[in-house]
Amino acid sequence: MCGIVGYIGTRHAAPLLMQGLRRLEYRGYDSAGIATLENGSLFCERSVGHIDALKEKIGDQRPEGTIGLAHTRWATHGGVSEKNAHPHRACNDSLVIVHNGIIENYRELRAELQATHTFTSDTDSEVLAHLIEVEYQGDLRHAVARALKKVRGTYGVVVMHASEPERLIAARMGSPLVIGMGKGEYFVASDATPLLPYTKDVTYLDDGEIAELRRGEVRIYDLLEQSVQKNIHHIEWDDEQAQKQGYSHFMLKEIFEQPIVFRDAVRGRKIPEEGTAYLGGLNMSEPQMRAVSRVLFVACGTAYHAGMIGKYAFERLARIPCEVEVASEFRYRDCVLDENTLVFAISQSGETADTLAAVREARRKGAIVRGIVNVVGSTIARETDGGTYIHAGPELAVASTKAFTNMVAVILLYALQFGRLKHMSLAAGQEFLQAHFDISTKMEEVLQQNDEVARIAQRYVHYRDFLFLGRGINYPVALEGSLKLKEISYIHSEAYPAGEMKHGVNALLGPELPVLAVMTKNQLYEKMRSNVEEVRARGSKVILIATEGDTDARAIADDVIFVPQTIEALEPLLNTIPLQLFAYHVATLLGRDVDRPRNLAKSVTVE
Ligand code: M6R
Repeated sequence: MCGIVGYIGTRHAAPLLMQGLRRLEYRGYDSAGIATLENGSLFCERSVGHIDALKEKIGDQRPEGTIGLAHTRWATHGGVSEKNAHPHRACNDSLVIVHNGIIENYRELRAELQATHTFTSDTDSEVLAHLIEVEYQGDLRHAVARALKKVRGTYGVVVMHASEPERLIAARMGSPLVIGMGKGEYFVASDATPLLPYTKDVTYLDDGEIAELRRGEVRIYDLLEQSVQKNIHHIEWDDEQAQKQGYSHFMLKEIFEQPIVFRDAVRGRKIPEEGTAYLGGLNMSEPQMRAVSRVLFVACGTAYHAGMIGKYAFERLARIPCEVEVASEFRYRDCVLDENTLVFAISQSGETADTLAAVREARRKGAIVRGIVNVVGSTIARETDGGTYIHAGPELAVASTKAFTNMVAVILLYALQFGRLKHMSLAAGQEFLQAHFDISTKMEEVLQQNDEVARIAQRYVHYRDFLFLGRGINYPVALEGSLKLKEISYIHSEAYPAGEMKHGVNALLGPELPVLAVMTKNQLYEKMRSNVEEVRARGSKVILIATEGDTDARAIADDVIFVPQTIEALEPLLNTIPLQLFAYHVATLLGRDVDRPRNLAKSVTVE
C-alpha cells in the first residue's frame, strides 16, 4: 500500500521526510521518492527499490527547504520503474504531487490532456498533476479543488507548487490522510506512523476535505471550498500500535480491511451496462477467450482454496470445464495441457516456489498461463504472460485473509467476463453485478459481529479438535476456515464436504468434536440442514454460519453467526469472514503469536 508523508515548518524537511518514509516501510513498497522546495526551485528525486536506494540516488545533493513531500509506491497502474515512482510533476516543473488511490477515469482524462501535455509515466496519478496544472491560476488550493471535481476514483493527495512555498495542499477521497499538529510545523501522512516522533496531536481528514497546511496554521475546507471545523485527537499509540492502526494484530487489521480492499480489487473492472467485467491484464482477444476449452487453477494453501471457489464459479457462470490443483502436485504430474487450456497461477506473494514451478511447467507444455497475484512485480507476475493484480495491499500477517477474498473477487470477475463471452445472458450478467454492488457493505455488516464471534470463541477455546463443514461453493470456505484455525491456534481441525460425512467421518462425532457448518440459504440449504441435524443428533456442538432471517437456524445449533443474504456465487466473500474472526479469537485467547505462527513463513520460496 502506498505511503505519503509531507512537511511544512521551520526545520530542514528532507531528513524528516526520509525518516517518515522509513517509518512507512511496513506498508510494503517497490519504489520511493522525495521533493522539497527552496527559493522557488523544486528538488525531486525518485528511485526503484528501498529507501536506501533513494538515499544513494540523492547522494551529495543537499535537498534544501523547509517544505516537502515524499512517497513510497506499491505499484498498481504502471510497472515498477523510476518514471512511475512518485512524486509526479506536471509539464512546467513547478508542481509536484504524491497520490495514493486509483483515478478511475484516468484514461479519458489523459486522452483529453494528451494534445497539450507531455506525460512521462504510465500512472493514473500523473494525470492528476496535469489536471491541477491546467486549473492553476495562482492559487493552489482553488486549483486542487477544481481539478478534483473532474476526477472519479479515490485519492489521498498532497500537492506543492514552486510559486507557493508557504503552503502544502492535501485532499482525501477514500484514501486516508492524517495531519500532525506540531508547534509551528505540520505534517501530513497516509497514517500516523511517520508523525509520532514529532507530535501525537492529529486531525483526520474525511472524504471530500481539502487541507491547507501553512507554517502557522492548518485550515480545512470541503470540495465547495467552505471552511470545515475539525477536532484534534491525541494518539496514545506507540509505533507498533500505529502500524496496526489500533488493532491488536496485523491479522485483525487485515480482516477488517477486507471491505476496502475488495473495492480496490473490483474498481474500474465492471461494466454494468454490458453485464460483464473487463480485466485488461488478461492480454487475450475475445476470439482467444472463446477458444478456451478448459481452465486450470494452480496454487498453494489459501490461494488453492480461492482456486476451488474459482472452479465452482467458472463452471457455473462460464460453463467452461475447470480443475484446480495444488501446485506441488501439479509440477510433478504429467498433466495434459494444450494451447486451449488457460492456467491461472494464484499467489499472494507471487514468489511461492511450487506455484512458480507450476507456471514454468505449464508454459513449457504450451498452455496459456496467467497470474492472479498480489505483490506487484513479483516473480510469478513477471513470468506469466499477463493476469491481474488483486490490489489487497501488503499482507503482513502470515495467515492470509484479505488476499483470499480479493483472489476470489478477481476470479469471480473473470468467470463473469468469460461467461458473458459464451453462454451467459445480459440479464444474468447484470443480476450478478447487481448483487455484487453492495458486497463490501455486507462485508462491513459481517465485521460488526466481531464481538459476538469473540464471545462464541470463548465458549469453544478449550476444545482440541474441530470439524468444518460446507457444501458446494461453501466447501472451500470450510477448508479455508479450518486452515486458518490450524495455522494460528495450533488446534487440529478438518474440513469436509458435508455430504461425505456418512462415508467415515461421522465416527468422530460426539461431545468432544464441535462442528462449524456453513448453512447459508442457497440451492443446497436443505441438504446442508439435514447434515447439520445429523451432526447434532450425534452429540457434537454446532456453530452455524447462517443467512440473516433464517429463523430455524437457532433451533438446530448451539451458536449462530448470521451473514447477509447474497447470491450463491458471492457467498464465499461473506461467509469466510466469521471463520477468519473465529480462528483469530481462539488463537488470541490461547495466547498464540497470531501474526507469526510457529513453523510458518509468509512467503514459501523453497520447495
Ligand atoms: O503467497 P501465496 O499465496 O502463493 O502463498 C500460498 C500459501 O503459502 C499461503 O496461502 C499459506 O497457506 C497461508 N499461510 C495461509 O494463510
